[in-house]
Amino acid sequence: MYIDLTSAGVPAPFWFVQFFKWLGFTLHTIPMNLWFAGLLIGLWLHLRGNNYAKHFAGRLLRQMPIIVALGINFGIVPLLFIQVAYYKVFYPATILMAWFWLSIIGLLIPAYYGVYAYAWGVKNGAKMESWRVAAGWIACAFFLTIGFLFVNGLTLMEHVSRWPELWKNNNIAGAATGLALNITDPAVYPRWLLMFGFALGTTAVWMLVDLCVLGGEKDEAYRNWAIGFAKKLYTVSLGWTIVVWAAYIFGTWSQDLFATMFSWPIILLTLLTIGAPTVPWMTLMGVGERPLTRPTVTTLALGQFLVLGLNAATRQTVQNLNLSLYPAVLDQPTDVQWSPIAMFLIVFALGVAVIAWMLWQIPKSKSA
Ligand code: HEM
Repeated sequence: MYIDLTSAGVPAPFWFVQFFKWLGFTLHTIPMNLWFAGLLIGLWLHLRGNNYAKHFAGRLLRQMPIIVALGINFGIVPLLFIQVAYYKVFYPATILMAWFWLSIIGLLIPAYYGVYAYAWGVKNGAKMESWRVAAGWIACAFFLTIGFLFVNGLTLMEHVSRWPELWKNNNIAGAATGLALNITDPAVYPRWLLMFGFALGTTAVWMLVDLCVLGGEKDEAYRNWAIGFAKKLYTVSLGWTIVVWAAYIFGTWSQDLFATMFSWPIILLTLLTIGAPTVPWMTLMGVGERPLTRPTVTTLALGQFLVLGLNAATRQTVQNLNLSLYPAVLDQPTDVQWSPIAMFLIVFALGVAVIAWMLWQIPKSKSA
């Protein structure tokens, strides 16, 4: 049977793909931030922190298996849409670095076990077995490495001009060996560091969500410590992201990309994205003069959602602009298939409703 792949068409409208890729990536980023920087901070505080730090770290580390499960599942959503609409660049890029890309699975499974091993070992006051401590730190190193591999693959996907050199250096008789890594691309490092910077902020916000919404309150002294720590952590995150944004934009954007991202109306998105972390930061800094109430924490959480959502939108805009140099990638006919779209929407809505219900139940649970 002959199938004409050139006329297959994208099975969903362009706006649909863009919207769910954006939404899925934003939802993926929230829990992913908590295992990207939050796990490192949690492990450190659990090892070296005072009693308050240990209290927070213990809670975060016990929550971590669920956070990882949520983040991985949300990651599937943008992956689905990348494979549907960006396949012409996604597959060649990930074939060039195939062994590293596949190694994500090999790193993720033990990292997940490591997080469980640590979580089960967290008991108030009791000393943790050393193998569990080691498992937690190994998991942390693996997660940081996986983050680097994701940044690598996704940067390579949109920097098509780098493929020939990587292929030339990594092929046998024309067949890619899958051993290429995009490490000479200057954009990779600021992108990885930028995500780490956001992750520090998300961890700070999570600390207060845990305190006020998830039942993490221990006593008044812990409350004061947590607010103080979250303020410091978010301040580091803000400074970090500003510095890395500057390095990323001025050090790696091409002249054309820079001109477009700073021209009307896209400049609005660019500036809002860079400035957005000041919203949660200012809300946080106001705590003290005002008490930390649930509405304040809700504002903080929504502010951080805005930060991550705007970052996802800018990233997607940059991705599309870089790929617009190769019109065959995104300028494809659509052949909309409504029944799978309807199935996707039903399952997605059900999944989000179940997760919202689960989160709703946590504060009511006695063991929270
Ligand atoms: C195996 C489950 C996972 C899936 C399916 C997944 C999926 C994705 C997808 C599709 C994107 C790109 C979104 C887009 O461009 O619109 C992404 C980005 C990212 N993911 Fe995940 N992810 C997973 C696990 C992880 C893990 C364990 C980490 C570790 C920290 C991680 C870190 C990242 C980072 C840092 C980015 C941003 C990359 C960039 O700058 O381009 N992900 N993930």
